[in-house]
Amino acid sequence: MLCLRGMASIARMRVAVLNGVNLDVLDRRDPALYGGVGLAELEGRIYQWSKALECTTRCRQTNSEGQFVEWCHDALDWADGVVLNPGAWSHYSYAIRDAVELFTVPVVEVHLSNIEEREEWRRVSVIGDLAAKRILGKGPDGYHEALEFLAAPHLEKRG
Ligand code: DQA
Repeated sequence: MLCLRGMASIARMRVAVLNGVNLDVLDRRDPALYGGVGLAELEGRIYQWSKALECTTRCRQTNSEGQFVEWCHDALDWADGVVLNPGAWSHYSYAIRDAVELFTVPVVEVHLSNIEEREEWRRVSVIGDLAAKRILGKGPDGYHEALEFLAAPHLEKRG
């Protein structure tokens, strides 16, 4: 009984998953690079993984850089952890970098493809040094690894 009360007092981990530009058309992009999975399928998997990891997750995708920044600001108010795949913005958007810099909770940078083994310009990530963890080239499963990383300390506390 005591134990149950203790568990209930630790709230579920809240995770913001933000996908950026061109990730809405994931299923039309090169399957060899991106896994051939559509955004709806990807988000469905993320919600299933989140449930198993006792996370309350909100997935969002936009092709508007300003909207992406706004959703980072919004997540500042509620998220305990953040998973970001800004797509091509990762390589040059200092506006997104400035927004990511505001997080005090852990941020995981995910890329479906291994950007470090692709074109020169993709090897740069302007948010890379702000991330608690970077997961590259693992396809959709990279998001699972990101959630596991964020949830681990929380699950430990719950016991
Ligand atoms: C990506 C890699 C980026 O270089 C690219 O512009 C994307 C997707 C990835 O998930 O592998 O749109 O972020």
